[in-house]
Amino acid sequence: MSYLENLFSCKDKVVVVTGAVGQLGAVLCDAFLRAGAKVVGVDQEVSQNKVEGIDHYKLDNTDKKQVMKVFGDIMAKYKKIDVLVNNAGVSTFAPFEERTEEDFDWVMDVNLKGTFFCIQAYVNLYDEYKLKAGSIINIGSIFGVVSPDFRVYTDTDCPRKNSEIYGATKAGIIQMTKYFAVHLADRGIRVNAVSPGGILNPENPQGRDFQKNYGFRCPMKRMAKEQEIPGAVIYLASDCASYTTGQNIMVDGGFSCW
Ligand SMILES: NC(=O)c1ccc[n+]([C@@H]2O[C@H](COP(=O)([O-])OP(=O)(O)OC[C@H]3O[C@@H](n4cnc5c(N)ncnc54)[C@H](O)[C@@H]3O)[C@@H](O)[C@H]2O)c1
Repeated sequence: MSYLENLFSCKDKVVVVTGAVGQLGAVLCDAFLRAGAKVVGVDQEVSQNKVEGIDHYKLDNTDKKQVMKVFGDIMAKYKKIDVLVNNAGVSTFAPFEERTEEDFDWVMDVNLKGTFFCIQAYVNLYDEYKLKAGSIINIGSIFGVVSPDFRVYTDTDCPRKNSEIYGATKAGIIQMTKYFAVHLADRGIRVNAVSPGGILNPENPQGRDFQKNYGFRCPMKRMAKEQEIPGAVIYLASDCASYTTGQNIMVDGGFSCW
């Protein structure tokens, strides 16, 4: 193996990805497989799995008992988890004047509480199994850092606008990343975030007018291709990032720079 391959390698690392059957989750699972990892995908929905070669577990991250059970099962099977990627996330798109308490709670629960439950279960098992090194990567968003620019959305092909609660939970994820980076450093666990900009969905592409507006707003003049996100995640998971913790890498074509 060359110097660079070795530095970025995830060979034989056990990687758990939440939200594994979604758009980004599937791309991350595939990328980790190609980087040599043993990949465990967890999701509340397992029937639509698209990636061959990964081990799947059904898990609702908002259910603490279920999280403890599933993470316990994964640890019992693999004897370690090297990398946890908290990717499961949801949003709501109704205008804020019409936001229901149920929708507000749902986004809070999946994005923040679910991420917390997974970190808590992982760290408790990490201690129990006396592991010596770990990496947690939380998926944030540009909207954890800047407000959505409503001029990008269109009445024609994208009338929905991203919500205040989505942004608040993603800002919370970025802060929680810093908290755990500090408080888990002594145990050898690095904690970082990757915050993507809007990702083009090849299976169900966003409308052309929306893409045009997004391109006008983004310095790189386009949405992200889904394959452009895993590089930062693999970097943070690998030995290349052995002295990097508490950071939030924006993968957004410069969207958040103005
Ligand atoms: N797609 C984008 O443009 C974009 C941009 C920035 C950030 N993100 C973030 O990337 C992550 C993945 O987004 P995506 O676009 O792939 O979304 P997606 O909807 O395609 O996938 C999300 C996955 O999470 C799962 N999930 C939802 N609730 C869950 C729960 N309670 N327990 C376990 N799994 C649950 C869903 O079943 C789904 O498979 C999210 O955190 C999202 O906020 C996405």
